[in-house]
Amino acid sequence: MMTLADMIERKTPPGPWEEGDNIPWDDPEFSERMLAEHLSQSHHLASRKREKIDQHIAWIHETVLRRKPARVLDLACGPGLYTGRLARLGCECVGIDFAPAALAHARAAAEREGLSCTYVQADVREADFGAGHDLVMMLSGQFNVFTRDAARRILAKARAALAPGGAVLLEPQRFETVRGEGQARTSSWYTVAGAGLFSDRAHLVCQEDFWDEPSRTKTQRYHVVDAETARVTRHVLSAVAYTEDELRRLLAETGFEGVEVHPSLIGAPDADDPWNLAVVARTP
Ligand SMILES: C[S@@+](CC[C@H](N)C(=O)[O-])C[C@H]1O[C@@H](n2cnc3c(N)ncnc32)[C@H](O)[C@@H]1O
Repeated sequence: MMTLADMIERKTPPGPWEEGDNIPWDDPEFSERMLAEHLSQSHHLASRKREKIDQHIAWIHETVLRRKPARVLDLACGPGLYTGRLARLGCECVGIDFAPAALAHARAAAEREGLSCTYVQADVREADFGAGHDLVMMLSGQFNVFTRDAARRILAKARAALAPGGAVLLEPQRFETVRGEGQARTSSWYTVAGAGLFSDRAHLVCQEDFWDEPSRTKTQRYHVVDAETARVTRHVLSAVAYTEDELRRLLAETGFEGVEVHPSLIGAPDADDPWNLAVVARTP
């Protein structure tokens, strides 16, 4: 258990992935609280708002799937907001995620509407991706949060799980997005009187951002201090800043060809989302 003394003596800057590798998506209580953020229509964090997801799906269906019914594997699918829509367009979808509340929501929606969606609760770094998919996708900047080695293994598994001519679709954060957040070296704090994302009790959240130039990695560290007990919980998230060249190289090295880099998941520059890219590559 961490104390305020541990917090004061913290290592600064922490090395990338040294103190942890993500916020606790897979913790059941955190996952319940995060589900409300996914479904919120007041911000684009966790998941985008409904209209934006509709636009993304229209582009994926038209440009990536070429309007054909397809077998789709969504890695880090969250509450199934993309898989559900693709299933309504005739796709057969599998979603993998390790957040229990998000998956429960996705399963309930699929059951309610009789959608062809299967959900697997697993860490995408360890999960079996199956075979014969026409599209494997990883959206919402998740590709950046894995170490370069883990990201390469995920791509290699995706390649092996695709049918001939199948496509991978990544929505990585742009190089400038990740570097900008890291280099800002923000150090900020806020208090929550009742329930917040990190706790359902009154608490203080201290956030620090760091940039590691040699590995081109941003690290975001949160210390959450419980108001009553002063107990401290730490969550640390690192993200790689990929250049377009590095992404193209990585995809070529993992067996993909025909790499296309688009300015957003609607295929054109999107004023609502200047932070991410859409990258499509196909198997030979
Ligand atoms: C920002 S949300 C995006 C969810 C969904 N793709 C969307 O756009 O609505 C990130 C998701 O990645 C999942 N995730 C993060 N790391 C993961 C891992 N190692 N294995 C499985 N899921 C993971 C989280 O549980 C969360 O649901």
